[in-house]
Amino acid sequence: MNPQNGTKLLRFAVIGCGAVAQAQHIPNIVRSPRMVLHTCVDLDEAVLAKCREVSGALHVRTDFQGAIDDSEVDVICLATTEKLRLPVIEYAAKAGKAIYVEKPLAKTLQETIEIQKVVHTSGVPFFVGHNRRCSPAMLDAHRIFREHMKNPKPCPWRWRREVLPALPEDGTPSVSVRINDDWYSWKAWVLDKSHAPHGPMLFEMTHFTDICNWFLDDEPVEVFAMETGILNQAVIIRYRGGALATISIGSNGSFGYCKELYEFTGNGAYLAVDHMLEVRTAGIEGVPSTITYPMVQDRHPQIGTEGGVSGWLAKKRAACDEATARHDPALQFTAEPDKGHACALERFVDQILGQGPEVCGVDSSVLATRVAFAAIRSAQEHRPVALSEI
Ligand SMILES: NC(=O)c1ccc[n+]([C@@H]2O[C@H](COP(=O)([O-])OP(=O)(O)OC[C@H]3O[C@@H](n4cnc5c(N)ncnc54)[C@H](O)[C@@H]3O)[C@@H](O)[C@H]2O)c1
Repeated sequence: MNPQNGTKLLRFAVIGCGAVAQAQHIPNIVRSPRMVLHTCVDLDEAVLAKCREVSGALHVRTDFQGAIDDSEVDVICLATTEKLRLPVIEYAAKAGKAIYVEKPLAKTLQETIEIQKVVHTSGVPFFVGHNRRCSPAMLDAHRIFREHMKNPKPCPWRWRREVLPALPEDGTPSVSVRINDDWYSWKAWVLDKSHAPHGPMLFEMTHFTDICNWFLDDEPVEVFAMETGILNQAVIIRYRGGALATISIGSNGSFGYCKELYEFTGNGAYLAVDHMLEVRTAGIEGVPSTITYPMVQDRHPQIGTEGGVSGWLAKKRAACDEATARHDPALQFTAEPDKGHACALERFVDQILGQGPEVCGVDSSVLATRVAFAAIRSAQEHRPVALSEI
């Protein structure tokens, strides 16, 4: 029990305590007044020692079954790579435990569908780690864009040159997602087909297909994709209502610049989410043209104090200069955008306690995953692929 308000504390078992668990889930659970880091499960004893000694896990073990069987454990946070998903989800669902699982939901389409059945049958609370849905910048942008798509206020200065015929696609939204990544930063398992058979076309793409589905609030019907191999992908998604989303991933890029730019247009408006640091709008009455968001783990609070993209770039330049001077590339990391990892766990607790809605459940995640599999097939077969084929 939380001594301050008498509410139940949720006891988490983190299964797979590697990079994302160490950087996000474990510290976020430890910091939360509503969660307890009960058990850490990993195959690597050195990782488990860190979980116990640095993070204060109450228990550590190497078998996920033991953690799930423990009657003290309320919630499973599954953060292994996609090599291990269905066996853990099946076991936890049978035990009635709530499940937070990292993206991608599964390694294959068949496993994705089996997981969906298991979750539906058991009815356990479920959350897939498409954490961008919980980023403060994304939440504001989604609210502003959806409101404008539902109830557009006429823009008083929009230039209508002359009387034009009505077009059926007038107002139809469009999304562009640009990803600047640097593959030199990847782990070797990313290139191992037994671990991640579809590479970033699956494990990165589902973040972006999920965002497009969420913002457009429409049914994806067709996908066309090309790729150079594993490093560059271009994907176009068509929606039932006519909207288009284009996703461009370039992995020969640089960490010295913002990774993610989302641009939305519709009903005479423009909205950009730049690296989850800044939301910019035009043509939406009553909404600020620029909103900036706090960064996390800022080692350079005296630099780039204006915040937003320009503030972040100034901090980044200072950090990269330190990395060069001290021959330590790890020093390039400084203020990061809030991508919503901590908020995702908090909103999952709300969902489990019946205090909030489902945020990213199995059905929306399966849809985002099916779009990614349509893109994989399209790139392989050099043709547009209908979602109904997947
Ligand atoms: N949402 C995000 O922002 C985000 C960011 C990075 C990674 N991810 C996803 O998180 C997942 C993990 O990525 P990572 O970079 O942390 O990988 P990682 O390789 O660093 O960590 C995986 C951990 O799982 C452990 N493990 C393997 N088999 C296990 C088993 N049977 N039982 C218990 N532990 C086991 C490994 O020992 C390792 O410590 C991937 O699916 C990745 O796509 C998500």
